[in-house]
Amino acid sequence: MTGYTKATRTLPSQPDTMLDLTGQQPFAQGSNRKCYTHPLDATRCLKVIRPENITARFERQSPVKRLLGTKRLNDNDQEIRAHHQRAIQKLLEQGDDALVWAHLPKFYGSVPTSLGEANESELIRCADGSVAPTLEHLIKEQGLTAELNQGIDEFLSWLQQTKILTRNLLPHNLVVSDRFDHPRLLLIDGLGAPTIPQALDSIPGWSSRYIKRKIARFRKRLDWEQGDSGLSWEDFQRLR
Ligand SMILES: Nc1ncnc2c1ncn2[C@@H]1O[C@H](COP(=O)(O)OP(=O)(O)OP(=O)(O)O)[C@@H](O)[C@H]1O
Ligand SMILES: [Mg+2]
Repeated sequence: MTGYTKATRTLPSQPDTMLDLTGQQPFAQGSNRKCYTHPLDATRCLKVIRPENITARFERQSPVKRLLGTKRLNDNDQEIRAHHQRAIQKLLEQGDDALVWAHLPKFYGSVPTSLGEANESELIRCADGSVAPTLEHLIKEQGLTAELNQGIDEFLSWLQQTKILTRNLLPHNLVVSDRFDHPRLLLIDGLGAPTIPQALDSIPGWSSRYIKRKIARFRKRLDWEQGDSGLSWEDFQRLR
C-alpha cells in the first residue's frame, strides 16, 4: 500500500461517484494539463490531461518511440509512477511524511471526473487564500530577492537530503507560498525520473550524482531567467 493511497482512504472528500467539472474554469493550465479547484474541497486541485497535447507529442516522435505507445506521454500516469519512487516510499514507510510533503503537494492519486481521470493533490495557497504564484512569475515581478534565494537554497537542500528524484527543475513548475516564516518552494510538476534512472536509484551514490546534475542545471536556468542575454534557453545552455 503506497503512502498516498493510504491518505486517500482516510480523507472525507473522496467521492464514490464521478466528480463533475462541467462549467468550471481551470485556475491554471500548463502545456499538458488543466488544473481545477476540487469542487468538494478547496484545499485540493484536480489535474486533467489535455488530450490534444498527447496526440501532438506522439506525432512528433520517431517511429521507434511510437512503438512504446502514448501511455508514457501521459503526465498524470508519469506523476503516479514518480510518487512510487524508492526515496518517497521509503520515507513514507518510515513515517517521515512531513519531510516528504514539506516541498511537494500532498498527493491523493487518480480520481474520475467528467473530463476524464484527474490527479488529485494539495492546492498550494498563500496566507491570503490566493493560489501560490510560480517561481517564474516572482522572478519576473521582483527578481531573485534574498528571501527567495533562501527559499531556493532550502528546497535544494531538501532534494539532497531526501534524494527524491525530479526531472529538469523549471521555475514554472515550482510555486512559492508565503504561509511560512520565509518563502517556501513546492514542486507542483516534474517529479520523478525516466524509467531507467528511476530504476537505478538503489545503486549507492547514484541518486546524489543525478540530483547534483539537476541542481547545477537549475542554477543555470535561474541565471538565464534573470538575465537579458537575448539567448534562447537552448543556446544559453550550450554557450555557458
Ligand atoms: N498544486 C498546485 N498548487 C498551486 N498551483 C498549482 C498546483 N499545480 C499546478 N499549479 C499551477 O498550474 C500550472 C500548471 O500546472 P502543471 O505544471 O501541473 O501543468 P502541466 O501541463 O503538467 O505543465 P507543463 O507545461 O510544465 O508540462 C502551474 O504552473 C501552476 O501555476
Ligand atoms: Mg508544469
